[in-house]
Amino acid sequence: MKVCRDVYWVGAIDWCEKDFHGFEIHRGLTYNSYLITDEKVALIDGVKHNFVRDQLRKVENYVKIEDIEYLVVNHIEPDHSGSIPEIVKRANPTVICSKIGKEGLEDYYGCEGWNFKPVKTGDKVKLGTKTLTFIETPMLHWPDSMMTWMDDGKVLFSMDVFGQHFAGSERFDDELGVGEAVKWAKIYYANVFMPFGKNVLNTVKKLRDLNIEPEIIAPSHGIVWRNPEIILKKYIEWAKFKSDKKAVIVYDTMWHSTEKLAMAIAEGIMSKGVKVRIFNVRKDAWTDIMAEVLDAKAVCVGSPTMNGTVFPSVAGFLTYMRGLKPKNKIATVFSSYGWGVGAYEEIIEVLKDMDFGIIEGLKVKFKPTEEELEVARELGEKIGEIIVER
Ligand SMILES: Cc1cc2nc3c(=O)[nH]c(=O)nc-3n(C[C@H](O)[C@H](O)[C@H](O)COP(=O)(O)O)c2cc1C
Repeated sequence: MKVCRDVYWVGAIDWCEKDFHGFEIHRGLTYNSYLITDEKVALIDGVKHNFVRDQLRKVENYVKIEDIEYLVVNHIEPDHSGSIPEIVKRANPTVICSKIGKEGLEDYYGCEGWNFKPVKTGDKVKLGTKTLTFIETPMLHWPDSMMTWMDDGKVLFSMDVFGQHFAGSERFDDELGVGEAVKWAKIYYANVFMPFGKNVLNTVKKLRDLNIEPEIIAPSHGIVWRNPEIILKKYIEWAKFKSDKKAVIVYDTMWHSTEKLAMAIAEGIMSKGVKVRIFNVRKDAWTDIMAEVLDAKAVCVGSPTMNGTVFPSVAGFLTYMRGLKPKNKIATVFSSYGWGVGAYEEIIEVLKDMDFGIIEGLKVKFKPTEEELEVARELGEKIGEIIVER
């Protein structure tokens, strides 16, 4: 599959995968690898180990495996480096990666006898008519991460940045539909890059400082962007936590009391013309929830008390959300209990720790009364008003 002149997609489509290291994906994913044919041949990234034959078969459509002179490892995570030991064995290429990338590859694969060329930002390798420039992008999203820029064709091989988990026959944003591509990219951003917004903004600046203005962005997952300005703009918005007039309500429930509070709060918020998304954390994908949290102004968390503490699924979700470090949010808590304190107080502490602006919530004993449901509606109205005013 041709990406542009002398650049070919030689990746793999993992149609059936639904669980990517605990990251729930709905439509499979791709491991993208790109072959550049010039006087010297370069291969950008590997694929997951079980797709190595698939990748090599695609490479052989254009060149012999032994002709690969340079193997660029933009990121050492096994979904991209799994096929690399086999390629090194067959082609003995110069392996180009960051210094930390080299150390990580040695930890994973031993790398006895590999011919490494560690690179820093600004280092270049000439292939013939084309020159590759490397840009270190630490903590986007691992310390080893880097990007590769090809001057001819203005292609940025951006690694996981700008990627999406989506398996399809389409290879380009305009084939899939740009809106659809952005939808998948948002889920990916929220669940992989949300904690690293500052690094995203620094990298965008670094690219500009290096006069890198891509016409094509080729990430390591999902479609290739032939409209790079759209995804660049979105990344800047997401990194700044630009928000919508929207509240996300997440909860779990055993006997529906907490759920009744969730619905009443939602009613109150909606009455102020604010969008609401409600998720049951035991039934809905956390990846989808986080994509909505990314650009929400308020997060409302509900849990029954169970065995003196937060309901396990809610506690798990809170741990996940805390790790992703969403910013600029207000939050409230609602809870049903039977005979003692527990969930409400603990969740408040977690949300305070996350620097959310806390709006006092409510807890009810067993099933909420009509009066308590009215209090929940009023709480929703208050949250709605704050969102509208902000
Ligand atoms: C297994 C189990 C353990 C519970 N443990 C506690 C507890 O430790 N403290 C408490 O106040 N209530 C406890 N409860 C009572 C629930 O908090 C109460 O029934 C609440 O209304 C449930 O809310 P829900 O309908 O949203 O599930 C427990 C209930 C169950 C089923």
